[in-house]
Amino acid sequence: MRLILLGPPGAGKGTQCKRIIEKYQAAHLSSGDILRAERAAGSELGQKAQSYMDSGGLVPDDLIIDMMIKAVKQAPSGYVLDGFPRTVPQAEGLDQALNRAGEKIDAIVELQVPDSAILSRMTGRRSCPKCGQVYHVENLKPKVEGQCDNSCGPLVQRKDDTPDVVEHRLKTYHEQTAAVVGYYKDKYPILTINADQPIDAVTADVFAGLESLAR
Ligand code: AP5
Repeated sequence: MRLILLGPPGAGKGTQCKRIIEKYQAAHLSSGDILRAERAAGSELGQKAQSYMDSGGLVPDDLIIDMMIKAVKQAPSGYVLDGFPRTVPQAEGLDQALNRAGEKIDAIVELQVPDSAILSRMTGRRSCPKCGQVYHVENLKPKVEGQCDNSCGPLVQRKDDTPDVVEHRLKTYHEQTAAVVGYYKDKYPILTINADQPIDAVTADVFAGLESLAR
């Protein structure tokens, strides 16, 4: 299965991706997670990406396209893309690579959430820097406060989850990323999901939508 998950920051893309890949045995290709790993490793790419990520802006397309095409090629049996493509040029870059490989995306899953619901999700988010598992201080608590359920150690709060940066990320989303849904309109099936409901209800709608597409 090859899916693209779209939606604003805090829509629940990472949360739902974890559940989709578990059910469908696909790779989770998160551009944000890959960039954070590059930063943690101190690579040249990670250093170049740092200031864009900290301010809530987008990392330049050429860096992202190369990085994600490489990740896609390493997942021949299927993947869910999370956070990529985020601009129309990125979507075009992905299409070119898919065409060269004779592959197609099965569906686009668009998670819709109003801006008003986003801030509390982001400021309450805690994540595991080792396995990437995402929690929330109220909506999705770990078994032991502040500790990853997978025995990795302490959870952290992302630097770009402060109110000012979240506001900039939302602005960036509306200005540069929302158009990607339109780009895909006549190319692939699009599942539009109301993601402004409890996490399990969103998952149920995503699975039901994917099953109806497969029929
Ligand atoms: P990235 O890491 O991709 O961030 P994002 O897209 O802004 O998305 P998030 O990870 O913040 O949110 P999410 O939708 O995954 O929500 P989550 O499941 O965690 O990108 C970070 C930065 O990297 C960008 O700003 C940019 O600089 C750079 N970058 C990345 N990709 C790029 C690209 N392609 N091009 C250029 N630059 C790029 O959920 C959030 C919280 O809400 C969690 O605590 C969760 O528990 C909770 N939650 C989830 N669902 C629900 C629900 N239904 N109800 C209540 N709470 C919920």
